[in-house]
Amino acid sequence: MPLTNHKFYNLNKNIPEIEHQVGRYLNYKRIIYEIKKYNIKGDILEFGVWQGLSLIIINSIFGKTDRKFIGADSFEGLPENSTIWTKGSFNNTSYNLAFKNIENNFPNKNKFKLIRGWFNQKSTCDNIYSETNNLCLIHFDADLGSSTTHALNIIEPYLKNRRRRRKKRGGVGRILFTSFLMIGVVIQMRFRTLF
Ligand SMILES: C[S@@+](CC[C@H](N)C(=O)[O-])C[C@H]1O[C@@H](n2cnc3c(N)ncnc32)[C@H](O)[C@@H]1O
Repeated sequence: MPLTNHKFYNLNKNIPEIEHQVGRYLNYKRIIYEIKKYNIKGDILEFGVWQGLSLIIINSIFGKTDRKFIGADSFEGLPENSTIWTKGSFNNTSYNLAFKNIENNFPNKNKFKLIRGWFNQKSTCDNIYSETNNLCLIHFDADLGSSTTHALNIIEPYLKNRRRRRKKRGGVGRILFTSFLMIGVVIQMRFRTLF
């Protein structure tokens, strides 16, 4: 990806789409660097796939790996109106479209799995649990507080597992990140007793 260094970002971050796309790219890079540096095991899970762009970017930063990339989405857009968001935004996608985009843009042939469903459905939760029992990175990109709360409920067991592993073997306990600072704050508050 061209023009994605910090100098370019700092010069142009007043342009909203640059702030969003380049900013998050640099953020992904920093986190994946840490995951590799500390050899943190686990798969990648994304809540909110839409057409697959962020999973494609994250995969390209990882490069060839045995880790699995898992994306969960209704593929029907946002479930409700909230603040600046309207119900149905991002419905210009489908499971098949996202699948093809990802398949065509994972040149390293890393494993990926898309899970179709709403985050508050038991089947979505069960399907995620059957795909992986360990995560190194979770990307929350569902835009809504309600959807992100459901996603946080789903990931709680992974955080507890990681905490147990960390206690046993030492080392870095968890990696969590998001496109939006606010969600990061919610995570810190909600899970503060776990870390
Ligand atoms: C901002 S888009 C994701 C963009 C994508 N990560 C990217 O960077 O290209 C938000 C996605 O979250 C999904 N979504 C939001 N709330 C959801 C929920 N409660 N259950 C399932 N999917 C949800 C929407 O269908 C939409 O595709």
